[in-house]
Amino acid sequence: MNTKFCTVDFKNEQDMTEHDKEVIMEAGSILKNGGLVAFPTETVYGLGGDGLDKKASEKIYAAKGRPSDNPLIVHIADIQAMEVLAGDIPKTAWQLAGKFWPGPMTMILNKKDIVPYETTGGLDTVAIRFPSHPVACALIKASGTYIAAPSANTSGRPSPTLASHVREDMDGKIDMIVDGGRVGIGIESTIVDVTGEVPMILRPGYITKEMLEAVVGHVEIDPAIIDDHLLKGVRPKAPGMKYKHYAPKGDLTIVEGDSESVIDTINRMVDIAKAEGKKTAVIAVDETKKAYRGDIVESIGTRSREETIAANLYDILRRMDTLGVDVIYSESFEDGGLGQAVMNRLLKAAGHQVIKV
Ligand code: TXA
Ligand code: MG
Repeated sequence: MNTKFCTVDFKNEQDMTEHDKEVIMEAGSILKNGGLVAFPTETVYGLGGDGLDKKASEKIYAAKGRPSDNPLIVHIADIQAMEVLAGDIPKTAWQLAGKFWPGPMTMILNKKDIVPYETTGGLDTVAIRFPSHPVACALIKASGTYIAAPSANTSGRPSPTLASHVREDMDGKIDMIVDGGRVGIGIESTIVDVTGEVPMILRPGYITKEMLEAVVGHVEIDPAIIDDHLLKGVRPKAPGMKYKHYAPKGDLTIVEGDSESVIDTINRMVDIAKAEGKKTAVIAVDETKKAYRGDIVESIGTRSREETIAANLYDILRRMDTLGVDVIYSESFEDGGLGQAVMNRLLKAAGHQVIKV
């Protein structure tokens, strides 16, 4: 298949040039006709298909090489669409939607018959998200349907934060890639299950527990995602969280502790690895970058703005493979707020290999 590659650049509908409009119309019509289009959202790039068309969902699984029991998120472009797709909607869902939509939050609700089991991986619930990215919203509207979209990476690779990442994984496998530049947030949406008594976070993201609690009171976190769930044998409630996620080709270790001890320990490990003839890399922050002796030292962002760390995480992990390093040492990140979402992804990439100093 020849994958069409188009670029758009608009911040809102009024901003759209004739070219932007043409691209969105074309992408919308591909989706309407059962094809697949990758597009930017505020979190990561999504791989979209008609969420109400079981054949389109099957194509998504095939393009990603994703197990078909791992459900897709259905994207909408207005809050009311929630009622088209889901039934028994609790008050908490309306409250959360009112506060965080459009934005990086996905809710799990009881599905209506209109949503095929191919989209929900056989579940009676459906994941729904109203993204805030102008390109995503314009595309959903242009399609005239609701868009099932997982992250646009090959299953097991880091989610794409740039159109070039999508191209690496999806060229030749889908109809079109819409390049809308680098995404803002860089890690996937927070998933909240609102089907139970108490809302439960199934995947941490930019919208934190504290932010949710400010709207609906007590919120729980699926215990399976907090730490070494694989070791404890607890099954996470979001099926996708059980899969081993991306592991870089190089051996990744996270070093946790006070900054000075972390720098010291990483430098000692770098020296040993170098003496063994290995190519070494360090994932540092702006504040510590100069202190390391790795062959490659990359800053992931600044600790004074945690969102910079989230935004660069997946790009750095992808780059580690391109650079062909043998060992990677990473600093650790705060375990509250957005840091929890970052650590959740980093721990998976490291196969939970952590040294505490
Ligand atoms: O930010 C995002 O959410 C991005 C953008 C493209 O919107 N999408 C995304 O989709 O991350 P994906 O498919 O990579 O991750 C969806 C996660 C998986 O872990 C899946 O198991 C979970 O959502 N999920 C989907 N439907 C579910 C359901 N009905 N119950 C529980 N978990 C569900
Ligand atoms: Mg994904």
